[in-house]
Amino acid sequence: MYESDTSKNRMKTGINGLDNMLNGGVPLNNQVVIAGGPGAGKTLLCFEVAYKNAKLGTPSIFISFEEDSKYLLDNIKEAFSDFNDIDKLIADKMLVIGGRDPGIMIENSNTADKYTFGKVMSEIEKLIVDNKSKFVVIDSISLLGLLLENDLDYRRSMVTMSSNLKKLNVTAFLIMEMTIADRDHMRYSPEFFIFDGIITLYMQGENDKRALNLEIFKMRGTNHSRAVSPYEITGGGMRVFTIES
Ligand SMILES: Nc1ncnc2c1ncn2[C@@H]1O[C@H](COP(=O)(O)OP(=O)(O)OP(=O)(O)O)[C@@H](O)[C@H]1O
Ligand SMILES: [Mg+2]
Repeated sequence: MYESDTSKNRMKTGINGLDNMLNGGVPLNNQVVIAGGPGAGKTLLCFEVAYKNAKLGTPSIFISFEEDSKYLLDNIKEAFSDFNDIDKLIADKMLVIGGRDPGIMIENSNTADKYTFGKVMSEIEKLIVDNKSKFVVIDSISLLGLLLENDLDYRRSMVTMSSNLKKLNVTAFLIMEMTIADRDHMRYSPEFFIFDGIITLYMQGENDKRALNLEIFKMRGTNHSRAVSPYEITGGGMRVFTIES
């Protein structure tokens, strides 16, 4: 049903099942929110997209405010044990891991050394330009929001970020933490509508009986599957089970 679009106007995610759902991939320069509850696999999904694109020769950057980069990489290598060339891609600068320790960022947010949203944004933009990145992950825009005083500031800053990223001609995956993980109760706040795409990871059920499902809620510029599709995390990457697969 979703025949692969071979045009050069798309970026493959490289995730098993997902490109099929996206009719071939994400339209280039789209800004896609990856939303989901804690532990849903947001970081792993976005890392895999950066890794797969880096492998295909697209300079990619993963900006993390979540964890320090060694801790982040240790967790990723533990989960994706088959990805044995991560260090090589990093050494070759095809894959760049950037970011800030969130503790330092928040601690300094009231001092002379103030960490403002604008300062963090210009650091991100400099990293993108210096590395000629074409694909960017920000993990997460919810944490970035902690640098802002209130919801209105946050929404305005998201508009600024979106327009700055558009000018840089990058495709971006922006992680958004949701406090509610199940589909029936999830609500999208206004800043979601700024961005071109929303992919949501749902978790339903209790503890070891949790079901993981992915939905492409919207994606400007392409036809896409609307099915709520189960996914799993394997040593070889994520796998989304589509009707076709
Ligand atoms: N080797 C593995 N095999 C299967 N599942 C794994 C493996 N390693 C980690 N996981 C799953 O991946 C989840 C973590 O994924 P990830 O860090 O991407 O989630 P997240 O949505 O970014 O979480 P957070 O909101 O805490 O940042 C774990 O909770 C676990 O369920
Ligand atoms: Mg995470």
